[in-house]
Amino acid sequence: MSTVPNNVQAYRASLLYFRADPAFDDRAAVWHEDGLLVVEDGRVKAAGDHASLLGSLPPGVVAHDYRGKLISPGFIDTHLHYPQTDMIASPAPGLLPWLDTYTFPTERRFADPAHARSVAEFFLDELLRCGTTTAVVYCTVHPGSVDAFFEASEARSLRMVAGKVLMDRHCPDFLRDLEGDLGETEALINKWHKRGRSLYAITPRFAPTSTDTQLRLTGELAAAYPDTFIQTHVSENKDECRWVGELFPQARSYLDVYERVGLMRPRALFGHCIWLDDEDFARMAATGSAAAVCPTSNLFLGSGLFDFERADGARALLSLGTDVGAGTSFSMLQTMNEAYKVARLKGSYLPALRMFYLATLGAARSMGLEGTIGSFAPGAEADFVVLDPKATPLLARRTGHCNSLEELLFALALLGDDRTIAATYSAGRQVHTRDA
Ligand code: GUN
Ligand code: ZN
Repeated sequence: MSTVPNNVQAYRASLLYFRADPAFDDRAAVWHEDGLLVVEDGRVKAAGDHASLLGSLPPGVVAHDYRGKLISPGFIDTHLHYPQTDMIASPAPGLLPWLDTYTFPTERRFADPAHARSVAEFFLDELLRCGTTTAVVYCTVHPGSVDAFFEASEARSLRMVAGKVLMDRHCPDFLRDLEGDLGETEALINKWHKRGRSLYAITPRFAPTSTDTQLRLTGELAAAYPDTFIQTHVSENKDECRWVGELFPQARSYLDVYERVGLMRPRALFGHCIWLDDEDFARMAATGSAAAVCPTSNLFLGSGLFDFERADGARALLSLGTDVGAGTSFSMLQTMNEAYKVARLKGSYLPALRMFYLATLGAARSMGLEGTIGSFAPGAEADFVVLDPKATPLLARRTGHCNSLEELLFALALLGDDRTIAATYSAGRQVHTRDA
């Protein structure tokens, strides 16, 4: 009778993960050219050199051979909208017309739970095809859109963060909350937050679509449930910023509208952050709030260029988001590609190591989940992605002559996409393979 333990798996490949931010620590990256990742009961047991870890495997456990490939913690996308899946690549001259023309009519359809379920299923499978194992996700104003999302992510055992959009003004009647009533959100927190791997995000869409009352109550709810997440948009577009200035003349800045009601705290994720000033970034850092930088969206809508140097000057927490459906790709590799170019246009420089950090440990730190996701520290959840440097003829040609880890990662980020993802694992279970 076989005595091979089936709760232990091992994977042989090059391993990359981070223990610090490479922008501030030269020894941040951990790299094992010929590495072994050992998983036990869905968690990382060890990550190191193949030669030194091989002897520690229980008898009979054979490592899966991914030699020639690179294993990284699964990518974490800190800002996107699952209901906007079907309207990706919809043209409009800027954020506000795009919201009116496409977004609100598209989100209206989520009053139908069957529609919500089918989009949630496609959306999650698309994330996994792109190597994204955790995402911070906007649903719609309909509570059923949240149930549909978490039911689909729970069925796949994924660590996901999501929440019901809150809007009670400047939106169509068919998407409007009752002013002063956060009962649906509170019920959803009690139903989903920390159930299995699901986590709840309190989700005021953005300042213009909430009354003062709704914003104030949202802050009170965030204080009553301090370990929930908060997600919203801030300072994305110049017309939007002007509008917020008119609606909230008492606030020092757009970001200050949120701080005044208690929405800046750890686990608060602010999408875009393009037009923040130095004081805003200082407040981000001081409150432990995090920026979700969304370059494909910002280029697509013409919103502006995120200022990495200014953000780093304040040591603000940073992460990357696709912002689908204003974002033009589900792939975090393509998101890195555009982040690199945004940084160049702003006169700064984003090394590939930093981009892989932002998509893994940087995001986990932004979410207060370091040690749980985003790295191969012992005990971390075994969410990981297998990257194939030979996924396409061009990638194979370019990565065939890399002189450094930085060059290899840069080629993966600039030339890679869903085709580069050979396999995706969540809690130690394979949830996508390109070969299938
Ligand atoms: N601001 C308010 N809502 C949205 C949205 O759905 N997408 C983007 N990109 N910005 C927003
Ligand atoms: Zn968004």
